Amino acid sequence: MMETGPPLLEVENIEKRFGGVRALQGASLSIAEGETVALVGDNGAGKSTLVKAVAGVQPADSGTIRLRGREVAIRSAKDAGALGVEVLYQDLALANTLDVAANVFLGDEPLWLKLGWFSVPDTRRMDAETAATLDRLRIDIPDPKRPVANLSGGQRQAVAIGRTIHRGRRELLILDEPTAALGVEEVRKVLALLRSLRDEGQTMIIVSHDLEHVFQVSDRIAVMRQGRVQAVVRTSEVTKTDIVRLIVGDIEDAVA
Ligand SMILES: Nc1ncnc2c1ncn2[C@@H]1O[C@H](COP(=O)(O)OP(=O)(O)OP(=O)(O)O)[C@@H](O)[C@H]1O
Ligand SMILES: [Mg+2]
Repeated sequence: MMETGPPLLEVENIEKRFGGVRALQGASLSIAEGETVALVGDNGAGKSTLVKAVAGVQPADSGTIRLRGREVAIRSAKDAGALGVEVLYQDLALANTLDVAANVFLGDEPLWLKLGWFSVPDTRRMDAETAATLDRLRIDIPDPKRPVANLSGGQRQAVAIGRTIHRGRRELLILDEPTAALGVEEVRKVLALLRSLRDEGQTMIIVSHDLEHVFQVSDRIAVMRQGRVQAVVRTSEVTKTDIVRLIVGDIEDAVA
């Protein structure tokens, strides 16, 4: 890959405490534009906390975040969104009482009619675009008119991913365990989708416990342990055994 300009994202020395728990203890990570980095590590290593710091949902206590070389203050999810950072969380945030299309468009509904404060969403367009998005994902939701509370875990995950891709290209797309709740066939589809997003040049951080999936979609792998990124390696240059050993702290740390 040709390096041009500063990395898309640089996080440096991020610290985050929850009471007595030091969830992040000087975590640093750098990601080039167009790159897909898998973030791995044992339960409690700090992956979700790091992602939430970049996403602004749980801002860091200290440390620096730069986008394209420019230091940015990310103190809320709104700050992150304005900078083009979009996150798909491990603990899904869907509006349970709304149907699939309403969730795909949440906060961004096309209007059929707008008169001052009075507006009517263009539900026909929403339904059609939602069907096209789910079609692209090739994930089947039998009745998209049902409130999403009634969907299975995998279907809910599909809706969340549909919402993410429907919004189009982002500076940075972060996915926390995107395949965790899915069945075998759904996993295959989501992995194919992630690969096609990568081919389109979307920069991504993907948190996953599934090393099989990690090896299928990532350019590099960042290994977290005890609140730090302990190693970053090129996926093509390592084996799953290497990664397992890095996760448990069995071999020397490495940086690629
Ligand atoms: N809101 C919170 N309040 C208190 N402690 C927290 C909170 N969120 C995370 N922690 C703690 O911070 C540490 C890192 O947690 P984090 O969720 O980032 O781990 P993780 O690497 O995402 O793990 P997993 O693979 O299980 O999702 C853990 O010790 C966890 O208990
Ligand atoms: Mg987590």
